[in-house]
Amino acid sequence: MKSKVLVTREVFDEVLDYLSQYFEVTSNQSDVPMDPETLALRLSDKQGALITLTDKIDAALLARCPNLKAVCNIAVGFNNIDLDACTKAKVMATNTPGVLDDTTADFTWALILATARRLTEAESYLRSGLWEGWKLKQFLGLDVHHATLGILGLGRIGQAVARRAAGFEMEVIYHDVRRASPDVEQACRASFVAKEVLLAQADILTLHVPYAPETHHLIGQAELKQMKPTAILINTARGGVVDDAALIEALRSGTIAGAGLDVFENEPKFNPQFLELKNVVLAPHIASSSRATRLKMAMLAAENLVSALTTGRPPNWLNPF
Ligand code: DGY
Repeated sequence: MKSKVLVTREVFDEVLDYLSQYFEVTSNQSDVPMDPETLALRLSDKQGALITLTDKIDAALLARCPNLKAVCNIAVGFNNIDLDACTKAKVMATNTPGVLDDTTADFTWALILATARRLTEAESYLRSGLWEGWKLKQFLGLDVHHATLGILGLGRIGQAVARRAAGFEMEVIYHDVRRASPDVEQACRASFVAKEVLLAQADILTLHVPYAPETHHLIGQAELKQMKPTAILINTARGGVVDDAALIEALRSGTIAGAGLDVFENEPKFNPQFLELKNVVLAPHIASSSRATRLKMAMLAAENLVSALTTGRPPNWLNPF
């Protein structure tokens, strides 16, 4: 008898076809996110699940899913999964590292350029019919070339962002809890500095750390105050790494010059005060969203699920037991 699996959100047909070779698949192709109660009901008789960051996997849910053996996230970030609870319940959890680094780095650069050069602000000015002609001092922005790029978190995505800085002839500095190897530093042309130095010297500060209790509000009022008033902050990592209320205040008061954000606290109900600010570029968590990459992420998650339920040893196993 085939194992039963749930696909919690809409995925590509290729992914469903692949999973159907191995499992009896129930899928939520209408793509309406499930509330915890619905998710628990739908998962209660399943052995596995292909999930996304909108699905919270915690002890309460696991207690209601006695047959569950594997939850496979279509994301590299896994702060939606309580790994300890999974381990206690002997549920394998997996993620999708490696396949989205370049796409996410590309989008980080889209936000860097759009924020530094005030692109969305200028576009909405033009679209609303306000443009009366060229002016010397119109939409003066920040030069990206030859600026100092500060990277907080030099993991795979941080490195991909750093490598792209060479074309802009930037100075690259970084901070991480662990210093990178000399090879990585050389490939990224990046110098390790203390966090305080990173905050004080970066013209552009970009965040590439996972969300965890230790990184909650890693950038808050105190850190924003240490930044240059001309600096911009970019977040394509996770909501919660930045204290959004403190950032809004810093953008309002001119503590920093601008921000480019793809992620927010309490997504999708982000702080509406962001909408009142002109010096912020906003995107709806799409940094990894090229067709090719989202397909790779979903296929890798599906391969993890097949491997978990057929061999008990998925390649991207987060909580080996
Ligand atoms: C990830 O993989 O963690 C991304 O945020 C998903 O878009």
